Amino acid sequence: MNFLSQKRILLGVSGGIAAYKSAELVRQLRAAGAAVRVVMTPAATGFVAARTFQALSGERVWSDWSDDRSGMDHIELARWADRILIAPASADTLARLAHGRADDLLAAVCLASTVPLCVAPAMNQAMWGNAATRHNIALLRERNVQVWGPAAGAQACGESGPGRMLEPDALVRAVADSFSSERLAGVRVVVTAGPTREAIDPVRFISNRSSGKMGYAVAQAAREAGAQVALVSGPVELDAPDGVTRTMVESAQEMLEAVLAEVSTGCDLFIGAAAVADYRPASASARKIKKRADCTSLDLQPAPDILATVAALENRPFCVGFAAETEQLQRHAQKKRLGKGVEMIAANRVGKGLGFETDQNELLLVWEGGSQLLAMDAKTRLARRLIECVADLYRHRTKHQDFAQDHAENSA
Ligand code: C5P
Repeated sequence: MNFLSQKRILLGVSGGIAAYKSAELVRQLRAAGAAVRVVMTPAATGFVAARTFQALSGERVWSDWSDDRSGMDHIELARWADRILIAPASADTLARLAHGRADDLLAAVCLASTVPLCVAPAMNQAMWGNAATRHNIALLRERNVQVWGPAAGAQACGESGPGRMLEPDALVRAVADSFSSERLAGVRVVVTAGPTREAIDPVRFISNRSSGKMGYAVAQAAREAGAQVALVSGPVELDAPDGVTRTMVESAQEMLEAVLAEVSTGCDLFIGAAAVADYRPASASARKIKKRADCTSLDLQPAPDILATVAALENRPFCVGFAAETEQLQRHAQKKRLGKGVEMIAANRVGKGLGFETDQNELLLVWEGGSQLLAMDAKTRLARRLIECVADLYRHRTKHQDFAQDHAENSA
């Protein structure tokens, strides 16, 4: 599967002859579906023009502090990125990173970032072998910085040895691999996403503003964590994430049937992120209802509750539901968790500019005896953090269930 689709890669380019290869790196990252922003050190601009990266990334390029137009661009860039890759990473840039400097824009972005940092060193072999560089690399590794390469071979300076930057295709593979995890390997996951449409007559329906973005991001994050994912989706304008099987439905009833069909073939984890209608017309008219001069009314009946139905099944999967709330998140979320009989509720605040139709969200996760706030972030990143949390709780529960079962069997 393509782990780079829709990922945001911040590419740092520092001063070195290998910088010419970074142009090809940008091209390949974009071809794999990633969005790329480039931050160059001032020294790098002596090797490749910023305009080259601008053309290839389709974005403006940042190099010195005068490019930080808002005075906050370095923070914005740090928040934007899913990964930071510095290629080439010169000896000087590695030294700056190792010592937490923030006196050039790239180093400041790295210091302000909380996402994984990866470096592809490139320098003369003696500089790479120098005790100072060795020490800096050890410091960076200690802080979980990924060090990719360098390769050994002929160098631009005429010498030979370790110090060549890895080739762009190897770096693209390494960035892609850094997004995959084995957290949910072998786990079968069913996710619902998007709105439902409840027919009033052949042309009209009741629906809601759900864009499906959160549910799709959750499906993708589960896939990236190694799960086998089936997505049951209401009508949305989104492509199915790579490697995920998708069933498109319209009404709550159709969604329920599709979910039960998926669950019956095997499901360990059910995540209900769809905004399912709570009510539907008691009966849909076979013909278009004619306009009348006076007022009219619509008889409604409850739509099936998919999450509660799945949670009540015998041999039910581990269930996670969502809740959109305008106030008292913690209280309402715990109430909903107990009411629906599910293991976890992910509650988000809805209202002005929050929740539906936006790319950002904030989630409060609640489970029995615990809660965690996932602060405002892009839905794609939030989904990955949600999946990490769900996977931990799921593993914890199944481990205890296995233990309890073994215990019961042994004492029988
Ligand atoms: O009851 P409420 O709509 O607030 O609950 C939200 C959670 O329940 C979501 O996970 C949603 O997908 C699920 N749900 C459902 N079927 C319904 C209503 C909500 O699965 N009819």
